[in-house]
Amino acid sequence: MNTQDLSAIRAHAAPLTATSVDQLQGRIRVPGDKSISHRALILGALTVGETVVHGLLEGEDVLATADAMRSLGADLQRSPEGTWHIHGCGVGGLAEPAGVLDMGNAGTGVRLLMGVVAGYPFTTFLTGDASLCRRPMGRVSKPLEGMGAQFLTRSQDRLPLAVTGGSPLLPMVYELSVPSAQVKSAVLLAGLHAPGVTTVIETVPTRDHTERMLRGFGADVSVEVDGAGRTIISLAGHQELKPTSIHVPGDPSSAAFPVVAAACLPGSQVCVEGLGINPMRIGLFDTLREMGAVVRFENEREEGGEPVADVHIEGRELKGVEVPPERAPSMIDEYPVLAVAAACASGRTVMRGLAELRVKESDRLAAVAKGLTDNGVSVEELDDGLIVTGNGGRPAGGGMVASQLDHRIAMAFLVLGMVSKDGVSIDDDAPIATSFPGFVELMTELGAGFQT
Ligand code: S3P
Repeated sequence: MNTQDLSAIRAHAAPLTATSVDQLQGRIRVPGDKSISHRALILGALTVGETVVHGLLEGEDVLATADAMRSLGADLQRSPEGTWHIHGCGVGGLAEPAGVLDMGNAGTGVRLLMGVVAGYPFTTFLTGDASLCRRPMGRVSKPLEGMGAQFLTRSQDRLPLAVTGGSPLLPMVYELSVPSAQVKSAVLLAGLHAPGVTTVIETVPTRDHTERMLRGFGADVSVEVDGAGRTIISLAGHQELKPTSIHVPGDPSSAAFPVVAAACLPGSQVCVEGLGINPMRIGLFDTLREMGAVVRFENEREEGGEPVADVHIEGRELKGVEVPPERAPSMIDEYPVLAVAAACASGRTVMRGLAELRVKESDRLAAVAKGLTDNGVSVEELDDGLIVTGNGGRPAGGGMVASQLDHRIAMAFLVLGMVSKDGVSIDDDAPIATSFPGFVELMTELGAGFQT
């Protein structure tokens, strides 16, 4: 499916323009981490007793996972103050859903759930929106088939699909073929439902929220680095998870939008309080420092097994850099907005090792290259990356960008509008609700301007 098709899908698209701003100032909190929120709902549903989640991201992706866990038999309630109370069914206790689980736009939700339901002898039907239905699921279904689950998918392993869990499911040793935390987590969640020890081997480390949170629920997970530098994660199946209380930190991938906007506008000072700074998520901050922005972590602490800080940003004149390809897993979702910083920097910014971006919510390399070109920025699209050449000042802007059912494309180009001369429009702002409800209001608080 091409760009045009994806944009045409939403019949009532709502265009939005971000106007040019001088500076951003203020202290904010961004919504809870999306990766951690999905995992909190899923693991909570696998306990017996009450798990309480504070600061859950109430974006559409996570709400789709909440609905799916309800369909699988767990009880999830939201208190009026926004705390979530989960009464789960225990490992092995989920029930066959009556209907098709529609995961909307949520790649993490659907892939983690594939791992969970692979452990149950019933059949689960999964689908998603037009974006999710074009994304590859074979990376998850193949290892799960190796454990004994059976999949029926559309061509090229795409959704909609049906999975009948292994009976019994077998443990396995699996070396990841793509550096993907979603695949790692799916195999570990399946392994929780198999007898014996399931092991995942990573040659390139990826975000470790599943391992950390499993420990928070009382599971025994071993993580070792072998002589070849590979990370070996092992988990014994059929462990009981104990209900717990979770505080979800702010999502560094959502913070990336105000952070980059502030970094590009000299004189800006923004502090994002209570932000997750897991080492596997902070590649953008390292890159912005190399480009010349001031990024300081203040009040560093640990909350619920995850490192957290108040992150302070000061805008500067930025310079282009070569981003080391091995940094990609620690900032994989941040490249669209990093490309905006690159458009403001002087000289070339080279971003490589990013073939995975072609199979995200949209083909993000193509979407970013087109959006930048249409706003007067010089960009070269590579098979696995982008080279952006900035002129050290504000990009022209003035273009209309197709958000393509991709929340990060929508927000990245609104940030381009803020730091441009003439503002930038997106054809549809609805995808923002996937991960960042309240984005427009929060950016307005900092000094941004929007026109509908
Ligand atoms: C995620 C992992 C990453 C990331 C996605 C969230 C997760 O995807 O892009 O937004 O929560 O595990 P991959 O696992 O495909 O790298």
